[in-house]
Amino acid sequence: MDGNGRWAKKRFLPRFAGHQAGLETVRRLVKYCAQENIEVLTLFAFSSENWRRPQEEVSLLMQLFITALQREVQKLHKNNVKLRVIGAREAFPNQLQEYIAQAEQLTAQNTGLTLVIAANYGGRWDITQAAQRMAREIQQGTLQVEALNEQQFTQYLCLADLPEPDLFIRTGGEQRVSNFLLWQLAYTEMYFTDTLWPDFDQAAFQQALHSFSTRQRRFGRTGEQLEKNA
Ligand code: FPP
Repeated sequence: MDGNGRWAKKRFLPRFAGHQAGLETVRRLVKYCAQENIEVLTLFAFSSENWRRPQEEVSLLMQLFITALQREVQKLHKNNVKLRVIGAREAFPNQLQEYIAQAEQLTAQNTGLTLVIAANYGGRWDITQAAQRMAREIQQGTLQVEALNEQQFTQYLCLADLPEPDLFIRTGGEQRVSNFLLWQLAYTEMYFTDTLWPDFDQAAFQQALHSFSTRQRRFGRTGEQLEKNA
């Protein structure tokens, strides 16, 4: 969700106004995804590296996350949305951790859209914590080194129970993955747009979905092989 700061700067507003406008985009897109029966929407809200921002911006962002949870959770629940937060949440203020736990608990049985918020998340962090947990099980003798393979490893990652993402969207003109779902993006279609996140409306999202629908996903096969099996 890149471009909040620039969106605000263009309007001579403080950066935080951009994050507030960004939250509006989140609201609209979550509603749209739920309506369109999209299975999973994962949003990168705060990266492991975002702590490096000015302290004032970091604490305003924490406050925004708290307010958003307070205001939106009932609505998400009513709309059958299941909320999940991934990342090293122990670094967050206690109050935020509590709201996250409550929101996850409240919506755990919902069967509609799964909304994943990546917060204090990093793809390398995810892979490292998976390796640590696995190593511990090997040490304890409950896992055999010989049993290790890609499928087994995936089980230790944060999103083990969810399908791999079909489409990755980055707004704001940058063409980088920036430590997002590194393992899970292996075969994901990438979509980059100059649109700043607060301006990323339904039409812009539909354009991304349209671009996705025109891609041929070969997963290592040839185009001819796919056409033969179609
Ligand atoms: C990146 O834009 C955006 C963030 C670091 C924060 C994203 C947060 C929200 C959209 C608000 C709430 C979200 C949830 C899910 C509760 P930037 O600040 O790097 O923009 P810039 O590149 O223009 O400076």
